[in-house]
Amino acid sequence: MTTVRKILVTGVAGFIGSHVARGLLRDGHEVVGIDDLSGGDIANVPPQVEFIQADLAARSAARSIPSGCRKILHLAGQSSGEISFDDPIADIEKNTLSTLNLIRYGIENRVERIVYASSMSVYGEVEDAPIDEGRRCSPLSCYGVGKLAAENYLRIYRSKLPFVALRMFNVYGPGQNMKNLRQGMVSIYLAQALANGSIEVKGSLDRFRDFIYIDDVVEIWRRAAASPSPLGRILNVGTGVRTTVEALLKHICALVPGAGYFVHGATPGDQSGIYAATANLKACLDIGGFTQLDEGLLKFAQWARGVVVDPAAGVIS
Ligand SMILES: NC(=O)c1ccc[n+]([C@@H]2O[C@H](COP(=O)([O-])OP(=O)(O)OC[C@H]3O[C@@H](n4cnc5c(N)ncnc54)[C@H](O)[C@@H]3O)[C@@H](O)[C@H]2O)c1
Repeated sequence: MTTVRKILVTGVAGFIGSHVARGLLRDGHEVVGIDDLSGGDIANVPPQVEFIQADLAARSAARSIPSGCRKILHLAGQSSGEISFDDPIADIEKNTLSTLNLIRYGIENRVERIVYASSMSVYGEVEDAPIDEGRRCSPLSCYGVGKLAAENYLRIYRSKLPFVALRMFNVYGPGQNMKNLRQGMVSIYLAQALANGSIEVKGSLDRFRDFIYIDDVVEIWRRAAASPSPLGRILNVGTGVRTTVEALLKHICALVPGAGYFVHGATPGDQSGIYAATANLKACLDIGGFTQLDEGLLKFAQWARGVVVDPAAGVIS
């Protein structure tokens, strides 16, 4: 892959952004990282990253970006559908206004491309079949509305700033925030299983999702940043495998002896079931296979044991 001078990674203190930054550093890129540390942790930021603490929703944030960033990988944002209902205006600021500010920065500085962290939440309620990118979007959460709006701003300005939008499905793996029990289905369940052996499930066990391991997601972001083929495209980032919530819970309980689960209430704005059609992703970015769920969960659980049950690292409550 071609080495460029500098790549800007937003949300670099978060789960996916920090992994993507490490992938780019391994490839020999220089990485500038921005994060306001509202959800992420400075400890996640690789030391080689030129780090700037700034809130991208503020117009002034762009002024703190050093010159020479040729590409933007935009992963900063509020990433929970549930939390988006607490303060929809804050959600719009974090997920949409921040994107508009970066678009303006990108145009003014003749940035070559922006790759955007969109979400399967843009689709809303769908039929029980692989969902492709041409599907009509009707988001159910404020989060999904904000992500879709950000995609549309990218589309409007595409002649001035080439874009790629990656509609990620459920990403999981080491580095997920194990203390936030309102963000990330796999981390929420695994954290509860490890902390007290009892998983509260907010919603039906028959719901289904598409779980994709973090290493596969990093590979997709590397290719989306480097290859000419995805420019102007919106791509699903999922495995195409339909997994019910109940099947996920059984996997987790098999990894955490003694753990069990119970259903209690529901999550606002939750989709009943969704999984990705992956033909466009595979063709556009030449992606072959994906990590199997049991393999990915095993690696995640091995890492999470240290974080959740090691008192030195802080037991979650
Ligand atoms: N994790 C998933 O399964 C998933 C799925 C689809 C889309 N996404 C999107 O991918 C991105 C990364 O998700 P994640 O799981 O790594 O979440 P995360 O919460 O771990 O990381 C997001 C980071 O963005 C930072 N941030 C938030 N608002 C900011 C602002 N205004 N200015 C600067 N920094 C800000 C946070 O401090 C955090 O470090 C998010 O945009 C999320 O919506 C995630």
